Amino acid sequence: MALAKDPGPAQQSQEPKDAADQNFDYMFKLLIIGNSSVGKTSFLFRYADDSFTSAFVSTVGIDFKVKTIYRNDKRVKLQIWDTAGQERYRTITTAYYRGAMGFLLMYDITSQESFCAVQDWATQIKTYSWDNAQVVLVGNKLDLEEDRQVPAEDAQKLSSELGFQFFEASAKDNVNVKQVFDKLVDVICEKMSESVNGEAITADNDKGANLKDTPPVSQGGCAC
Ligand code: GTP
Ligand code: MG
Repeated sequence: MALAKDPGPAQQSQEPKDAADQNFDYMFKLLIIGNSSVGKTSFLFRYADDSFTSAFVSTVGIDFKVKTIYRNDKRVKLQIWDTAGQERYRTITTAYYRGAMGFLLMYDITSQESFCAVQDWATQIKTYSWDNAQVVLVGNKLDLEEDRQVPAEDAQKLSSELGFQFFEASAKDNVNVKQVFDKLVDVICEKMSESVNGEAITADNDKGANLKDTPPVSQGGCAC
């Protein structure tokens, strides 16, 4: 994958139809973050293209896909950014946190190390994104139950402490992939409706998010 720029109007004409489509009620910028190899790119490909490959091609920098969905009687255009998990790209990827309304924070249920990194990723979100960005914690590779290292209860507890939604999922078997995105869109919409101004992100103004509630302070712990 190549290093991607923000898709300005000039670039939109080269994107697939979905990306150029201006017929939407809201546009949400979402980011997928987490350690390398947890399955971020696979998760996005499953969601956007309904495809999966077992080959591992580590993401270079950042890339994005666009998908438009109907949710709560609204046409919601999702600009989904897939970040590289490798440390060496951290400066590039954190530059994209600003303006993101939602995050998929992913770990691999067969990797305790990836779960132990969740707290650090949560700190990165707090540091670089809006206070009101919504987060779903996703334990991927649920199909590898026999290799599980991270008990679901541990992740549930941590997500509660962090104020995040939580799912276990499988990009490979297409378990909970759509549900994760739907939940993230729903919680963003809920926050928007709680907003005093209710301006948030519209087709005319993709910089106007004004969400009021601040999620609980990230204090989750890890046994590592
Ligand atoms: P970086 O781009 O380096 O940050 O990694 P990534 O998080 O994007 O991981 P990627 O999606 O490239 O997947 C890494 C490896 O895990 C690949 O070999 C995938 O096929 C595999 N993988 C991803 N999701 C699943 C899953 O749900 N189940 C199983 N069994 N393997 C998966
Ligand atoms: Mg990747």
